[in-house]
Amino acid sequence: MPETRPLAIVTGASAGIGYELARECVAHGFDLVIAADQPKIQEVAQELRAAGAEVIAVEADLATLEGVDRLYEAASALNRPVAALLANAGHGLGRAFLDQDFDRVRHVVDTNVTGTIYLIHKIGRDMRARGMGRILITGSIGGYVPGSFQAVYNATKAFIDSFSFALRNELKDAGVSVTCLMPGPTDTEFFGRADMLDTKVGQAKKDDPAAVAKSGFRAMMRGEADVVTGWKNKVQTTLANVTPPGMLAEQHRKMAEPGTAAKR
Ligand SMILES: NC(=O)c1ccc[n+]([C@@H]2O[C@H](COP(=O)([O-])OP(=O)(O)OC[C@H]3O[C@@H](n4cnc5c(N)ncnc54)[C@H](OP(=O)(O)O)[C@@H]3O)[C@@H](O)[C@H]2O)c1
Repeated sequence: MPETRPLAIVTGASAGIGYELARECVAHGFDLVIAADQPKIQEVAQELRAAGAEVIAVEADLATLEGVDRLYEAASALNRPVAALLANAGHGLGRAFLDQDFDRVRHVVDTNVTGTIYLIHKIGRDMRARGMGRILITGSIGGYVPGSFQAVYNATKAFIDSFSFALRNELKDAGVSVTCLMPGPTDTEFFGRADMLDTKVGQAKKDDPAAVAKSGFRAMMRGEADVVTGWKNKVQTTLANVTPPGMLAEQHRKMAEPGTAAKR
């Protein structure tokens, strides 16, 4: 691989926002290590290679420490510094908490929180040692809102949003920037995968993942703290800061309770 091109890692690059983030990286001259759980990541790697980048694809369940280790080892084997880490892999889970299967609940926490911060811990240490690097973490505006009928998912995003600002502060003199991408509802496989297609939010018009990724990538390159995509989402997060949590939870119920799609 030519040493002149910077290297980025993008997780969850097989679909949705992560796929678009990977495309942004290639359009801006990065080579890539991309990861997802399913074999589709290999097809995406082929497509990105055709666009001119060197791309390594890793199939790994990033909910597990072993999966994250495998990704880290694949990136380390290249012997190139990681200029940017885009920690984006994540998924939701709709329906009432007590009706959810606990293994699936745990997979949400293990992917969105444990696997994400484990990867950042490993790559972040290398970046700090070099005094250089950019980290983009996909949080969510959902992190501002207690998410009735998607309670655990929203709580993981509250963790990620908070974690991102804290890590950024810790690294402020280390040459490593940390940026939190906070999308609102975006048109990806997310809602189908979370079993939320019969909800109001599942059926509502959503943001374009390519536009979301563009603003996330730009904010990362500028070293900004966070980016809430779209004016509607900006208004919502501003209001969420001054609205009692009980009221926010009730509003979320109206969007995410199963069957609300029919009540529109
Ligand atoms: N869509 C929205 O409305 C929205 C809003 C705010 C924030 N977000 C966040 O944006 C990020 C991307 O979601 P998306 O909307 O683009 O969803 P998506 O279209 O379902 O894509 C999710 C990506 O993450 C990967 N992934 C999920 N769990 C994984 C695991 N355990 N191990 C490895 N890869 C895993 C998926 O790969 P596999 O299929 O191979 O598992 C896929 O590449 C997530 O963190 C999500 O929470 C989404």
